[in-house]
Amino acid sequence: GKDVGILAMDIYFPPTCVQQEALEAHDGASKGKYTIGLGQDCMAFCSEVEDVVSMSLTVVASLLQKYNIDPKLIGRLEVGSETVIDKSKSIKTWLMQIFEESGNTDIEGVDSSNACYGGTAALLNCVNWVESKSWDGRYGLVVCTDSAVYAEGPARPTGGAAAIAMLIGPNAPISFERKYKASHMAHAYDFYKPDLASEYPVVDGKLSQTCYLMALDSCYKQFCTKYEKLVGEQFSISDADYCVFHSPYNKLVQKSFARLFFNDFMRNCSSVDNDAKEKLLPFANLNSEESYQSRDLEKASQQVAKHLYDIKVQPSTLLPKQIGNMYTASLYAALASVVYNKHNSLAGQRIIMFSYGSGLTSTLFSLRLHEGQHPFSLANIASMLDVTAKLNSRHVTPPEKFVETLKLMEHRYGAKDFETSQDTSLLPPGTFYLTKVDSMYRRFYDKK
Ligand code: ACO
Repeated sequence: GKDVGILAMDIYFPPTCVQQEALEAHDGASKGKYTIGLGQDCMAFCSEVEDVVSMSLTVVASLLQKYNIDPKLIGRLEVGSETVIDKSKSIKTWLMQIFEESGNTDIEGVDSSNACYGGTAALLNCVNWVESKSWDGRYGLVVCTDSAVYAEGPARPTGGAAAIAMLIGPNAPISFERKYKASHMAHAYDFYKPDLASEYPVVDGKLSQTCYLMALDSCYKQFCTKYEKLVGEQFSISDADYCVFHSPYNKLVQKSFARLFFNDFMRNCSSVDNDAKEKLLPFANLNSEESYQSRDLEKASQQVAKHLYDIKVQPSTLLPKQIGNMYTASLYAALASVVYNKHNSLAGQRIIMFSYGSGLTSTLFSLRLHEGQHPFSLANIASMLDVTAKLNSRHVTPPEKFVETLKLMEHRYGAKDFETSQDTSLLPPGTFYLTKVDSMYRRFYDKK
């Protein structure tokens, strides 16, 4: 297949959200900490009738319907998620209900999980399948679904929730430049979920930021080396029209882009102008450990990269700032934001994508954009995503209600024998929701 990649996308996020400004005040944090400090506007969360299964059912049904895809034409379905509903049963198996009526049970793939990286693992698997000898000519379907919730404390405002579905096949408007790819994988305890009785992670916030930036550096260095070997020219951020990052919160994305800029400076790229060189020169002799700790470097590099950030990164930040960390879906919500904002001018352009999952796994890869052909065109994807309408129709909840919901979910996590309120008043038509969990822990969903 030629130009294998993403043919179609859809996103679902809960209609319930809390404003970061209100949460800041509620938590007694200093004014501006969540909005300017973390760079976040709003945070979506699942009410007691929604979870990662219902969100993924909703988004898969919606994608198939909107793009008029015959369910028989799906040959592989993979899910990325780090939200544990069951230690054995894949979320993918719940999604098979959508294919029941068509009689299509011949669909490969299960779930992938490693923190926020599972969606990328699923995506790479599907792309590789389409490119392989075992491909049967049908579509792949990748689903990223997560509900990010944290215990009370500094990490709580970095939650979020969403599900994304991506249809995979040849002649895609969002295609993989498959040789331009580099990974960094290592053992770390920066963020993990060892307590099986709790939905909340154990997180070392500061360490997780450093691990993220170290992984980014390592991927970028190897990516540049590979590119230079293949193309015979130096790679710098001027060769990418957009840089899209996994987004736990926007501030880390700002720091990440500045870090790429600093890498280009250290690699003596001609794209770094004299003014920037002068401002970064004082940091040229820091060893790598010092460079992660230096606040002055962070500030200086963010400042010299700011004009490029506005062009190459800002268009990707729409959904992540409005929804929060969607774990596996976060990177792809950022990609969807670029497509939504820039679909008119993307043809021929390149997007580099950085995927990070704590623990840790990471990959930097490159996408090449094409106009595409209806219904698999950039313009149609942008229109189907319908981001503005979805954001505007959300219901803003007071922080007290958000905290109350999380308390209730602490009791419900891993519980059996309960019914939900079945209050679907805020859910758009077509949304799946949880009705009950029976005495055998079996979960039941209905569609509004
Ligand atoms: N006005 C403006 N800015 C402020 C204010 C204020 N009133 N108060 C604080 N800030 C700034 C800080 O200076 C800091 O910005 P900086 O890093 O540019 O200096 C930022 O707000 C955050 O403040 P901190 O004191 O660093 O925040 P804290 O340590 O309390 O929590 C953290 C932040 C560590 C990110 C926490 O939310 C967390 O642990 N989140 C989960 C972990 C995470 O997402 N890690 C990322 C990679 S792993 C993953 O994806 C899960």
